[in-house]
Formats: sequence, C-alpha cells, structure tokens
Amino acid sequence: MTSTITAPLVPTAPRALPGIGHALQLLCNPLPFTTSLNELGPVVRVLVPGPDVYLVTAPDLLHRILVTETRDYAKGRITEGIGSQFGPSVVMDMSFEGLTHFESHRRHRRAVQPGFNPHRIAAQTQAAHLAVQEQLARWRPGQTLRIDKELARLAYQINARAFCGNGPTTQSVADALAGLVAQTTPGLLWRVSLPQWAHLSHVPGTGAFNRALTRLRTAIHATIDIRRRDTQDSPDVLSHLLQATYADTGERLDDHQIVSETLFYLFAAVHGIGDAMPYAFHQLALNPQVEQRVHEEIDAVLDGRPVQAEDLPRLDYTRRVLQEVLRLHPPVWVFARRTLVPVQLGSAHLPAGAEIVISPYGLHRNPQVHQDPLRFDPDRWLPERAKSLAPCTYLALGAGPRKCIGDNLAMTNMLTLLATIASRWRLRTVPTRRVRPITRIFLSPGPLPMICEPRSVA
Ligand code: HEM
Repeated sequence: MTSTITAPLVPTAPRALPGIGHALQLLCNPLPFTTSLNELGPVVRVLVPGPDVYLVTAPDLLHRILVTETRDYAKGRITEGIGSQFGPSVVMDMSFEGLTHFESHRRHRRAVQPGFNPHRIAAQTQAAHLAVQEQLARWRPGQTLRIDKELARLAYQINARAFCGNGPTTQSVADALAGLVAQTTPGLLWRVSLPQWAHLSHVPGTGAFNRALTRLRTAIHATIDIRRRDTQDSPDVLSHLLQATYADTGERLDDHQIVSETLFYLFAAVHGIGDAMPYAFHQLALNPQVEQRVHEEIDAVLDGRPVQAEDLPRLDYTRRVLQEVLRLHPPVWVFARRTLVPVQLGSAHLPAGAEIVISPYGLHRNPQVHQDPLRFDPDRWLPERAKSLAPCTYLALGAGPRKCIGDNLAMTNMLTLLATIASRWRLRTVPTRRVRPITRIFLSPGPLPMICEPRSVA
C-alpha cells in the first residue's frame, strides 16, 4: 500500500487490515465486497499491496472514463499482467512511434477489426452448429452432466474453428486451448494480481502455464504455415490477420504479432461460452416461464431445421435472455484503467498513475442503476424499457473505443449454441446443488451438474 496518491474526498472501503488492506476481502469474498461498495459513493478507495486502487461505481463517471475522455486513460495493471504473458495484442496498450496510447490503439484496432466483420461471423454459424450437434450426440436422457465441462469443451471446439478455421490443425488448437485454460488459475492469476510477480519463474504453476502457452503458440504457427500454402480466403479471423495491414504505412502484421493476437482472442473467447452459458442454462431451469418463451421462439423460428445465420436476428427474446445472463453473471466481472493525467472524477481528484477499477458485476447489481437488480428479467432489455437506461449502465462487453472486439462473435456463437441445444434438450437443476461462483480472473459458476431431458416438441 502506498500513500503517494492522496484523494481526501474519496471514501475508503471499510475494514482494511494493517499491511494488506482489503486484499483478504478481495481474495475470499470479491463479489459481495465489490457490490457492497456501491453504497459508499461514485468513487471508493480500496487498499491493496502496491498503489491504492479506486473503484468507480457511477455510470456518468464510467462514461467519461470509457467513452468521452478515454484519451486520458491507459489500460490497468491486470491487462498489463496478462499482456506480458501472452504477448502484445489489441487488448493491451501498444505503442507506435510518435503516437499516443489512444492513437496507437486506434491504429492497431483498425487493422484487426475487419476480421470481425458481421458477414464473416455470420458465415461461421454452420460450423458452430455442427460442433454442438457432434457433442449432443453423446447426451442421453436422464443423464447428469457436468454442464460447465460440456460447455467448456464446446467453447474450445467452436472457437478453434472461429479463429483458426476448420482444417488439419483445428483439433490441436482446441486441445492446446483447453490445456492453457486449465493452467490459467495456477499460472496466471497470481501474476496478474501481483504484477511484481509477473516475471518470476518460480511462482507456482509457471512451468505448466508456459508449456501450455508454447503448445498453443505452436498450434497457431502450424495453422499459419498451412494457410500460407493455401491462399483461399475463409471466414475465420486468422485468415483476415494474415492479410491485415496498417492504414498509415501499409505494413502487414508480422507472424509474432498474429500469433499473440490469435492467442489472446482464443483465450478471451472461451469465457463467453465456457463461463456465461452454464449460467444461461441454470437461469432457464430456475425460471420455467422464461424457458417456455425461449422454447416457443426457437420452435417458431427454426421449425425443426438446424439454426442458420438468417435465423439469429429473429431470436429476439433468446437474445434478451443472453443479455440478461451477461448482466447478472458477467464473465469479465472486473476490468481496469490507469490515469495518464490528473483527473477530477466527481469530488475525487486523482493524480496521473492512479489505478481505476470498474466492476460490471457490481454495477449491474446496483439498485440505483438497475431496477430490482437481482431479478432475472430478460424483458428489461425490450427497446421501450431499455431506452430509459443511461449510457454505461451495462458494461458486460465494455464500452467506447475499447469495447469488446468479439462482442458480435460471442453473441452469434452463444445464440447458435442455445438455439441448437434448447431445440432438443432441457436441462434441470440437481436439487441439492448450490452454485458457488468462482472469480479466477473470469467469473464462472464452477462445477455445475445438470440433468438432461429430451424435449418433446409439439
Ligand atoms: C461473452 C463473451 C465476452 C465478454 C463478456 C467479453 C467482455 C469484454 C469486456 C468487458 C471488454 C472491455 C475490457 C476493457 O475495456 O478493458 C472486452 C474487450 C475485449 N474482448 Fe471481449 N468479451 C467476450 C468475448 C470476446 C471474444 C469472443 C473475443 C474474441 C476476439 C474477445 C476479445 C476481446 C478483446 C481483444 C478486447 C479488447 C478490445 C480493445 O481493447 O480494443 N472478447 N471484452
């Protein structure tokens, strides 16, 4: 903890312990702790080892940080920690000679963004649908499944195809991705929480984590080699990255950059299907009326056919269900910024270098921001109701120039998956089982057994 940053008008979170501040609460009880700070004010100081951090809870201030005054902020230290392990990519601050943080990011993002063009993403619907079908063929009526594991497996398969296409290396990309995700907690969590540990090789889990990273890098390199020989364009993201150029110089991304970029995308993408979708099935099981409306919509739109890209815009209610799942259970439950210049946020005066934390989880559960926030109510996203919400009241996918680049891809894959599964199966909760959220970088429901029942469609 340090006292170099003085912001006397900012309330401090209660019950700090000498030497470690709120570290124990953040480690053992992060979700209730973060949410409880909503009541203290628009900016709340949290004490951790290293520089203090400031949790910003008010949507108007979040809008300034993320959208209108974004030039005054860089990414925070969590992203730096991840970036230092994965290599440079659009998610972190990249510097180009003569350009500010903001301009460097914009230059790079413009080069990679066309890989996420809606037409390319729509063209991947069939591949996602087939991956789900393959897995559903193994489900049996009455079977109790670890739905978290089933969906994680699907996340590896679907994203390996979305980013690296469907070819001879797809399975090795999917397997290596699974290996990397398995090593995230031991190998990455401590190093992003404590940046001073980032480069220490004897932090537990480092060896296995580094081997998993190397394996995934090798699989991506192998895919690139094959692509270079076969010049046919395909809708996967890698195929765009191989052709991407910077608008100002016309230079291409080098292979090192393409691999780091793809590596991070794969890692980020897994957490939509892997961490949010188990919650979606859990919420459907807890809310039979919502489940029934989802089934009715899917049956009416698909009429027994496999889901196709053209169907997705018509799955309005199902999309709102997913939006509501991401509100209550955002996989990116916290993200951060660092001030580049002194800033005034409400009555808080923060110097350059202050660490700012933003919690979509806490924001989405703040009763001053969302009415009856703990209620699972997909219709709160009906256009006529949602229009009363101020900007930056929903940050599941971020906002502004650094909004999630994979937002459309994530939604397309999640909708395809939900429509494909729910057209044939309903999942029931195991009565004695309580969901205990886990916050190891991303928020997930942890082990989630569910019972699968075939649907008899009228
Ligand atoms: C439901 C799934 C997903 C959620 C909840 C999610 C959430 C987020 C959030 C909250 C941010 C903003 C972070 C910040 O402002 O610091 C973000 C950024 C980002 N996400 Fe996602 N994401 C998801 C899926 C994906 C997918 C499929 C990809 C694949 C490419 C992806 C790649 C990225 C990247 C590269 C950024 C950084 C963008 C930039 O700084 O320009 N995410 N995501």
